Amino acid sequence: MSGHGAPIDELRERLRGAGSICVLTGAGMSAESGIATFRDALTGLWSRFDPAQLASEEGFRADPALVWGWYAARRDGVRRAAPNAGHVALGAFARRHPGRLTVVSQNVDDLHQRAGNAGTIRLHGDILEDRWLEACKRRPACDTLTATPGTPPRCAECGNFVRPGVVWFGEMLPAGALEAADAAAERCDVMLVVGTSGAVWPAAGLAGRARRGGAHVVIVNPQPSEIDDEAHTVLRGTAAQLLPALLDGL
Ligand code: APR
Repeated sequence: MSGHGAPIDELRERLRGAGSICVLTGAGMSAESGIATFRDALTGLWSRFDPAQLASEEGFRADPALVWGWYAARRDGVRRAAPNAGHVALGAFARRHPGRLTVVSQNVDDLHQRAGNAGTIRLHGDILEDRWLEACKRRPACDTLTATPGTPPRCAECGNFVRPGVVWFGEMLPAGALEAADAAAERCDVMLVVGTSGAVWPAAGLAGRARRGGAHVVIVNPQPSEIDDEAHTVLRGTAAQLLPALLDGL
């Protein structure tokens, strides 16, 4: 598998010798699976929808039906999507080299998990997961599966709304996720940063943490990102093109 061009061949040697590899992914990782990114001009969700209205607790409380409907449509899109060659290359590498690869994702889809990276650290939650809007005060807590169907479903006991298990703007990341991601970034020998604009923190800070920890940082993105300065190598291409070229056969 030589002859991919100097940067790829050099990186393959680095990856071959790396005891620990961390992969930070963003929406661009799933773009070739047909899932829209957030900030790509015109196609990005935030160029068509207002994040404050659709991805915040205030927005949900202001119009639960609108927000639930929007997530229901995105959920359908995720269920119809399939892992692309980039997801598959990461899953296959992890199977060949158990314990050497840690995937840290900002994505709320389940394509990494479906491709074999079951241990993916999810920084921004899971779009297919249901949660109560208010913490249920009953013990044992009511199960969202028992919610009365609707847009959105509600608790038959107390009227509590069901909301998607994603991290909305202004909310805390899932407990332990950032700590685990920080640890993976700190210990890795190589970090691949794939398909993120680097616009959202604290996720965007993981590239700098890896660099300060001595890792070789590689960015995979067809466009410039806000964290290109943290990279030792920038590869202008897509996830489905470049991840197989970097990892297959290793
Ligand atoms: N392969 C690799 N990168 C791609 C591809 C592709 N096929 N297609 C687009 N990209 C790049 C774009 O150039 C862009 O830099 O993916 C990036 C997507 O950036 P965003 O849309 O900003 O997505 P992301 O960085 O994941 O956003 C972070 O913001 O809205 C919140 O919670 C949401 O997790 C999300 C967070």
